[in-house]
Amino acid sequence: MKLAMVGGGGFRTPLVYSALLHDHAPGRVTEVALVDVDSDRLATMARILEDEAAGAADAPRVSIHTDLAEGIRGADFVFSAIRVGGLEGRALDERIGQSHGVIGQETVGFGGISFALRTLPVVMDLARTVRRVAPEAWVINFTNPAGIVTEAMSQVLGDRVIGICDSPIGLARRALGALGLGDCADVDVRYAGLNHLGWVTQLRVDGRDVLPELLARPDLIESFEEGRLFGAEWIQALGALPNEYLHYFNYQRDVLQADQYASSTRGRYLVDQQSSFWDRAARSGHPLEDWHVCRHEREVTYMATNRESAGMGDRDEADIVSGGYENVALALMRGIAHDQMARLILNVRNRGTLVGLDDEAVVEVPCIVDSAGAHPIPGAELPDFGQGLVTTVKYVERQTIEAGVNGSRTAALRALAHHPLIDSVRVARSLLEDAQVSFPTDLSHLR
Ligand code: G6P
Ligand code: MN
Repeated sequence: MKLAMVGGGGFRTPLVYSALLHDHAPGRVTEVALVDVDSDRLATMARILEDEAAGAADAPRVSIHTDLAEGIRGADFVFSAIRVGGLEGRALDERIGQSHGVIGQETVGFGGISFALRTLPVVMDLARTVRRVAPEAWVINFTNPAGIVTEAMSQVLGDRVIGICDSPIGLARRALGALGLGDCADVDVRYAGLNHLGWVTQLRVDGRDVLPELLARPDLIESFEEGRLFGAEWIQALGALPNEYLHYFNYQRDVLQADQYASSTRGRYLVDQQSSFWDRAARSGHPLEDWHVCRHEREVTYMATNRESAGMGDRDEADIVSGGYENVALALMRGIAHDQMARLILNVRNRGTLVGLDDEAVVEVPCIVDSAGAHPIPGAELPDFGQGLVTTVKYVERQTIEAGVNGSRTAALRALAHHPLIDSVRVARSLLEDAQVSFPTDLSHLR
């Protein structure tokens, strides 16, 4: 089986490759094509993966490509994990947002919209190239903002594009861990929302919902990351577990304040951290070791400003070590390729699952995966307080897609001005103007 990784020169590629190395079952991936616009990173990445594969007789063969069509030809699966505008673009989005007094973040609010606007033309091209060159392939989308990007690509690829995020399963895993139920096999996580905007509403273990037991125990709630971030009292008031990205909505003012005192934005920090990593790794005799060190540091500092604003201290080592995303990706791939039924939380078209959203709206909900793809499991339900927010943000996503795919500047303005984290049409207008000045080429489609 062939896997093509678009954005394969990206930092998280070794996570996926390591999951593949652990898969020895028949029908596993035997060929990995890394596709990237940056040939230097591709060369370094190939050396990192070579280090990872040392001693594994059945390691998937790795090839590198700067030509997209060449790389994805014959692929059974295409992973998309690209970052249009790079980390510099991310840092710029954050700075523009903050300079107008709104949240500056990669996927939320202004930053998410700006990031989507420059990403959408590129991923639509990618979708069309997949349809032309590898029409049988399934696309697994990690490219952020994952919900928006998946919905736009589904215009071309239908249900053959599926979006992934590690945060819902991470949340569920941490909550179950707090209850000492981390090892249970029969777990049915009820989760509903959009990407980076959802809630765990039930945690069913052996058919019984154990979430009320967690909600009754402030000590247990504050024993894991999201519990500490939002505070036991608020989680008890919600009666559900919010995705960590809801922190920007629930504690907007506090994050804005913490941002003012932060020494740099996340994006700016990563620009420096990652560029020195790539320099070092290119010259290093053991690039995989450099990667491990850098990855640990990246995970330790994840969402540091939010944690600081909540006064919650360091992350748990368990959260730093065990990622989720590569395992979700692997389970999804095996589920489809080998009809190995899996239950995963994914970004797929709604098809009547969440009330109040149309069938084509991409939502993040539990799905059953089999050889025919990912099917949302009926019964996912938004909490009452989440319905209005999800409807509004879906509207914003749709306007963003209209802007990014069809070039409507007015739609971009509608998206920005209606976003709950942007509090004035005047501010929305200035944000858009600044974005167009900062990204003249990537946003040239907006008219
Ligand atoms: C989580 C989110 C991803 C996001 C990443 C950012 O994994 O689910 O969507 O891209 O965090 O992490 P970073 O280290 O880039 O700040
Ligand atoms: Mn995510």
